[in-house]
Amino acid sequence: MKEKGFFISFEGIDGSGKSTQIQRLGKYLETLGFDVIITREPGGSVGGEQIRNLLLQGAVDRWSPETEILLFTASRRDHLERIILPALENGKIVICDRFTDSTRMYQGMRGPSLRKFVELLNEKVIKCNPDLTIIIDINPETGLKRAKSRKTAEERFENFGVDLQMKMRQGFIELSKEFSNRIEVVNGQQSVDKLAQDICTLVKARLS
Ligand SMILES: Nc1ncnc2c1ncn2[C@@H]1O[C@H](COP(=O)(O)OP(=O)(O)OP(=O)(O)O)[C@@H](O)[C@H]1O
Ligand SMILES: [Mg+2]
Repeated sequence: MKEKGFFISFEGIDGSGKSTQIQRLGKYLETLGFDVIITREPGGSVGGEQIRNLLLQGAVDRWSPETEILLFTASRRDHLERIILPALENGKIVICDRFTDSTRMYQGMRGPSLRKFVELLNEKVIKCNPDLTIIIDINPETGLKRAKSRKTAEERFENFGVDLQMKMRQGFIELSKEFSNRIEVVNGQQSVDKLAQDICTLVKARLS
């Protein structure tokens, strides 16, 4: 589906430093002369952001896992159609805060049939994988402490607690082996500057 441009997604548990590093990488790539678009999931488009509010606010059991996967997929499809694919067609670098791998983890890990459901919808409805995915790996206690220091209404998933984050951390590492040609894992426990340096180095290598 995509011809030009370059699509990078960032993944990792809450508070791992995704948003911080995305801003840094975006600025770095602009200094190299690239046209960069920074976006996020769920959301990114007007309709996607409306679905984001349904997904991230309210009680933990607000949706069944199946409904939740459908909402994430609807939001992602709108985001792709309106923002990501047009930008890639115009030769831009798209950096996205979370993408399908987060759905594989947070929804897909709730049962084998749910992971299959995520894959099915990805294949039939999304049909687009990032060129490069950066997973920021971090100890869940450190991540949660960082995430909780920011007060927002979007706590549905943060309220799942350390146990779930532990499972997700492990799941992301397994995912990096499953999709080893696309996924790179970086160490989130370094300083912001050192981690930014690691990320810039590996992105530059992939772009050239
Ligand atoms: N390497 C780092 N060392 C120390 N603090 C950091 C580091 N990276 C980010 N932080 C701080 O931790 C908090 C969470 O970082 P950030 O928002 O980038 O994480 P995130 O992965 O986007 O979280 P979420 O998944 O909840 O959106 C922020 O207050 C940020 O300033
Ligand atoms: Mg963030």
